[in-house]
Amino acid sequence: MGKVIILCGFMGSGKTTVGRLLAKKLLARFIDTDEYIEQQQKMSIPNIFKEKGEQYFRALEHVALQNAVEEGGPLTTVVATGGGMLMDPDNVRTVSENGCTVVYLSTDFEICYERISKSNRPLVLQHTKEELRALYEERHKIYSKLCTTQLYNHQKPDTVVDNIISVINPLSIQKL
Ligand code: S3P
Repeated sequence: MGKVIILCGFMGSGKTTVGRLLAKKLLARFIDTDEYIEQQQKMSIPNIFKEKGEQYFRALEHVALQNAVEEGGPLTTVVATGGGMLMDPDNVRTVSENGCTVVYLSTDFEICYERISKSNRPLVLQHTKEELRALYEERHKIYSKLCTTQLYNHQKPDTVVDNIISVINPLSIQKL
Protein backbone atom coordinates (compact mmCIF):
# COMPACT_ATOMS: atom_id res chain seq x y z
CA MET A 1 0.00 0.00 0.00
CA GLY A 2 1.19 3.53 -0.78
CA LYS A 3 2.10 6.08 1.83
CA VAL A 4 -0.83 8.03 3.29
CA ILE A 5 -0.34 11.58 4.55
CA ILE A 6 -3.16 12.90 6.72
CA LEU A 7 -3.49 16.65 7.21
CA CYS A 8 -5.25 17.63 10.40
CA GLY A 9 -5.96 20.93 12.11
CA PHE A 10 -8.72 23.27 13.19
CA MET A 11 -11.35 24.62 10.79
CA GLY A 12 -9.75 27.32 8.66
CA SER A 13 -6.20 26.09 9.19
CA GLY A 14 -5.68 25.59 5.44
CA LYS A 15 -5.83 21.80 5.16
CA THR A 16 -7.59 21.74 1.78
CA THR A 17 -5.39 24.38 0.12
CA VAL A 18 -2.15 22.92 1.43
CA GLY A 19 -3.28 19.32 0.83
CA ARG A 20 -4.19 19.93 -2.80
CA LEU A 21 -0.85 21.61 -3.46
CA LEU A 22 1.09 18.95 -1.57
CA ALA A 23 -0.57 16.21 -3.63
CA LYS A 24 0.22 18.08 -6.84
CA LYS A 25 3.90 18.40 -5.93
CA LEU A 26 4.17 14.75 -4.88
CA LEU A 27 2.14 13.57 -7.90
CA ALA A 28 -0.09 11.93 -5.32
CA ARG A 29 -3.80 11.21 -5.13
CA PHE A 30 -5.72 13.87 -3.16
CA ILE A 31 -8.84 13.34 -1.09
CA ASP A 32 -10.64 16.00 0.92
CA THR A 33 -12.99 14.03 3.16
CA ASP A 34 -15.57 16.85 3.35
CA GLU A 35 -15.70 17.15 -0.45
CA TYR A 36 -15.84 13.36 -0.76
CA ILE A 37 -18.84 13.22 1.60
CA GLU A 38 -20.62 16.04 -0.23
CA GLN A 39 -20.14 14.31 -3.57
CA GLN A 40 -21.25 10.92 -2.26
CA GLN A 41 -24.30 12.31 -0.51
CA LYS A 42 -25.08 14.95 -3.15
CA MET A 43 -25.65 17.29 -0.22
CA SER A 44 -23.65 20.07 1.44
CA ILE A 45 -22.15 19.50 4.90
CA PRO A 46 -24.45 22.15 6.48
CA ASN A 47 -27.47 20.36 4.99
CA ILE A 48 -26.25 16.95 6.18
CA PHE A 49 -25.96 18.38 9.73
CA LYS A 50 -29.38 20.03 9.43
CA GLU A 51 -31.29 17.12 7.92
CA LYS A 52 -29.51 14.05 9.31
CA GLY A 53 -27.62 15.35 12.34
CA GLU A 54 -23.99 15.47 13.42
CA GLN A 55 -23.81 11.80 14.39
CA TYR A 56 -24.79 10.79 10.86
CA PHE A 57 -22.11 13.10 9.48
CA ARG A 58 -19.50 11.57 11.81
CA ALA A 59 -20.38 8.08 10.55
CA LEU A 60 -19.94 9.26 6.95
CA GLU A 61 -16.66 10.87 7.94
CA HIS A 62 -15.40 7.55 9.30
CA VAL A 63 -16.26 5.73 6.06
CA ALA A 64 -14.65 8.52 4.01
CA LEU A 65 -11.39 8.14 5.95
CA GLN A 66 -11.46 4.37 5.71
CA ASN A 67 -11.95 4.53 1.92
CA ALA A 68 -9.33 7.24 1.46
CA VAL A 69 -6.75 5.20 3.35
CA GLU A 70 -7.57 1.79 1.86
CA GLU A 71 -8.30 2.53 -1.79
CA GLY A 72 -5.07 4.17 -2.89
CA GLY A 73 -3.31 1.00 -4.02
CA PRO A 74 0.39 1.69 -4.57
CA LEU A 75 -0.12 5.45 -4.90
CA THR A 76 0.79 8.02 -2.28
CA THR A 77 -2.38 9.60 -0.95
CA VAL A 78 -2.80 13.00 0.69
CA VAL A 79 -5.95 13.29 2.82
CA ALA A 80 -7.29 16.65 4.00
CA THR A 81 -9.57 15.89 6.94
CA GLY A 82 -12.35 17.87 8.60
CA GLY A 83 -11.35 19.49 11.88
CA GLY A 84 -13.29 16.94 13.94
CA MET A 85 -11.99 13.80 12.22
CA LEU A 86 -9.34 12.85 14.75
CA MET A 87 -11.64 13.43 17.71
CA ASP A 88 -13.11 9.99 17.03
CA PRO A 89 -10.97 7.18 18.49
CA ASP A 90 -12.07 4.86 15.65
CA ASN A 91 -10.52 7.28 13.16
CA VAL A 92 -7.35 7.52 15.22
CA ARG A 93 -7.19 3.73 15.14
CA THR A 94 -7.62 3.68 11.33
CA VAL A 95 -4.78 6.18 11.00
CA SER A 96 -2.41 4.34 13.28
CA GLU A 97 -3.23 0.82 12.03
CA ASN A 98 -2.48 1.93 8.48
CA GLY A 99 0.79 3.61 9.41
CA CYS A 100 -0.33 7.01 8.12
CA THR A 101 1.86 10.09 8.54
CA VAL A 102 -0.15 12.76 10.35
CA VAL A 103 0.76 16.38 9.69
CA TYR A 104 -0.79 18.96 12.00
CA LEU A 105 -1.23 22.32 10.31
CA SER A 106 -1.09 24.55 13.31
CA THR A 107 -2.58 28.00 12.72
CA ASP A 108 -3.36 30.68 15.33
CA PHE A 109 -6.95 30.73 16.50
CA GLU A 110 -7.49 34.35 15.42
CA ILE A 111 -6.40 33.53 11.86
CA CYS A 112 -8.67 30.47 11.73
CA TYR A 113 -11.53 32.49 13.18
CA GLU A 114 -11.09 35.28 10.66
CA ARG A 115 -11.38 32.69 7.87
CA ILE A 116 -14.33 30.73 9.25
CA SER A 117 -16.43 33.36 11.03
CA LYS A 118 -18.42 34.27 7.91
CA SER A 119 -18.75 30.68 6.68
CA ASN A 120 -21.78 28.45 7.08
CA ARG A 121 -19.88 25.68 8.88
CA PRO A 122 -22.36 24.10 11.31
CA LEU A 123 -20.03 24.35 14.32
CA VAL A 124 -19.41 28.03 13.62
CA LEU A 125 -23.14 28.73 13.41
CA GLN A 126 -23.76 26.82 16.64
CA HIS A 127 -21.04 28.38 18.83
CA THR A 128 -19.83 31.76 20.01
CA LYS A 129 -16.27 32.91 19.33
CA GLU A 130 -15.24 32.08 22.89
CA GLU A 131 -16.73 28.59 22.65
CA LEU A 132 -14.83 28.05 19.41
CA ARG A 133 -11.64 29.24 21.08
CA ALA A 134 -12.17 26.65 23.84
CA LEU A 135 -12.77 23.96 21.20
CA TYR A 136 -9.60 25.09 19.43
CA GLU A 137 -7.55 24.75 22.65
CA GLU A 138 -9.00 21.33 23.38
CA ARG A 139 -8.38 20.05 19.86
CA HIS A 140 -4.92 21.61 19.68
CA LYS A 141 -3.84 19.30 22.50
CA ILE A 142 -5.22 16.27 20.66
CA TYR A 143 -3.77 17.15 17.24
CA SER A 144 -0.37 17.83 18.86
CA LYS A 145 -0.41 14.52 20.66
CA LEU A 146 -1.47 12.46 17.65
CA CYS A 147 0.59 14.03 14.90
CA THR A 148 3.81 12.75 13.43
CA THR A 149 4.84 16.31 12.69
CA GLN A 150 3.48 19.78 13.50
CA LEU A 151 3.99 22.77 11.21
CA TYR A 152 2.96 26.38 11.60
CA ASN A 153 0.83 27.34 8.65
CA HIS A 154 1.66 31.03 8.73
CA GLN A 155 3.51 31.19 5.46
CA LYS A 156 2.46 30.97 1.82
CA PRO A 157 0.94 27.56 0.94
CA ASP A 158 3.89 26.84 -1.38
CA THR A 159 6.38 27.35 1.45
CA VAL A 160 4.33 25.25 3.86
CA VAL A 161 4.18 22.46 1.29
CA ASP A 162 7.96 22.58 0.79
CA ASN A 163 8.41 22.42 4.57
CA ILE A 164 6.12 19.38 4.79
CA ILE A 165 8.01 17.63 2.00
CA SER A 166 11.36 18.26 3.63
CA VAL A 167 10.09 16.98 6.97
CA ILE A 168 8.39 13.83 5.74
CA ASN A 169 11.25 12.84 3.45
CA PRO A 170 9.96 12.54 -0.12
CA LEU A 171 12.52 9.88 -1.01
CA SER A 172 10.88 7.35 1.28
CA ILE A 173 7.50 8.23 -0.24
CA GLN A 174 8.65 7.73 -3.81
CA LYS A 175 10.10 4.35 -2.94
CA LEU A 176 6.79 3.04 -1.60
C1 S3P B 1 -15.81 20.19 11.33
C2 S3P B 1 -14.98 20.74 10.38
C3 S3P B 1 -15.37 20.91 8.98
C4 S3P B 1 -16.41 19.85 8.59
C5 S3P B 1 -17.57 19.89 9.54
C6 S3P B 1 -17.14 19.63 10.99
C7 S3P B 1 -15.31 20.07 12.73
O1 S3P B 1 -14.24 20.78 8.13
O2 S3P B 1 -15.85 18.59 8.57
O3 S3P B 1 -18.20 21.13 9.41
O4 S3P B 1 -15.87 19.32 13.53
O5 S3P B 1 -14.31 20.77 13.06
P1 S3P B 1 -13.05 21.90 8.03
O6 S3P B 1 -12.10 21.62 9.17
O7 S3P B 1 -12.42 21.61 6.72
O8 S3P B 1 -13.67 23.23 8.10
